[in-house]
Amino acid sequence: MRTAASVVSLLVLGTAAASERPVELKDGPGKALVVASCSTCHSLDYIPMNSPFLDRKGWAATVTKMMNAMGAPVAADDVPKIVEYLATYYGKEPAPPAVRTAPPSRAATKSAPSAEVLARGKAGFEAYCISCHGPSGRGNGPVAPTLRPPPKDLTALKGGAPRVFQILGTGVSGTAMVSFTHLSEEDRWAIAHYVASLRTEKDVNAK
Ligand code: HEC
Ligand code: HEC
Repeated sequence: MRTAASVVSLLVLGTAAASERPVELKDGPGKALVVASCSTCHSLDYIPMNSPFLDRKGWAATVTKMMNAMGAPVAADDVPKIVEYLATYYGKEPAPPAVRTAPPSRAATKSAPSAEVLARGKAGFEAYCISCHGPSGRGNGPVAPTLRPPPKDLTALKGGAPRVFQILGTGVSGTAMVSFTHLSEEDRWAIAHYVASLRTEKDVNAK
């Protein structure tokens, strides 16, 4: 019989053997039926001990197994009542919804950036943009004097992050402004948000 045992039931057998105290099941409709049907072969401990693992389906399968494989004498009519009691009082909590780790959607990246996104954008800007656009984006980077047309003053840019994102995708043909599609979309959005924030800061400072 043990060869057919799941790891769970082996664990349970071991623990049940260790604690020989009688078990008091929770009060509720169906309790008497469960005590009568489930305590003849093993401790009722098996029920609370398996509650972390079994949901309604699991309890239904266990009861069926007790009847078919172990020969538990349970009347077919009583099965739904027993399962109802077990699922209600000893059912596993439903699993919490899985945390979504998918990359943020386009809509999410377009919305107001977090401090984290801005920090990521600043790092990207410093790595890829300041040689031409300058450390504060005003178009006065060290390479700027050699460029015709010159880099734009990004603090005067209209259209916000979506426009920057768009230009990072296309570049401006015939100029030193190439596309940055080798960066991930997320990185481009972060940089775009950071560039847009340069304009906000300037407006704030202008007041
Ligand atoms: C005829 C004897 C018998 C009766 C009656 C019986 N069981 Fe079992 N039960 C067993 C045996 C034997 C095992 C150990 C099986 C193993 O080693 O896998 C077991 C194991 C279990 C386990 C451990 C998990 C598993 O699937 O092995 C649970 C939970 C369980 N029984 C619940 C119940 C419930 C609920 C009832 C009442 C509906 C019940 N049992 C009635 C014989 C019985
Ligand atoms: C090699 C120099 C160079 C680098 C590096 C560079 N740019 Fe540019 N950028 C330019 C030039 C030159 C223009 C002006 C193109 C034009 O005249 O339309 C420009 C234009 C732009 C514009 C359009 C501004 C407007 O008003 O139309 C944006 C937005 C922009 N750059 C963002 C960036 C960002 C963000 C980075 C870093 C990821 C970057 N650029 C890196 C040279 C550069």
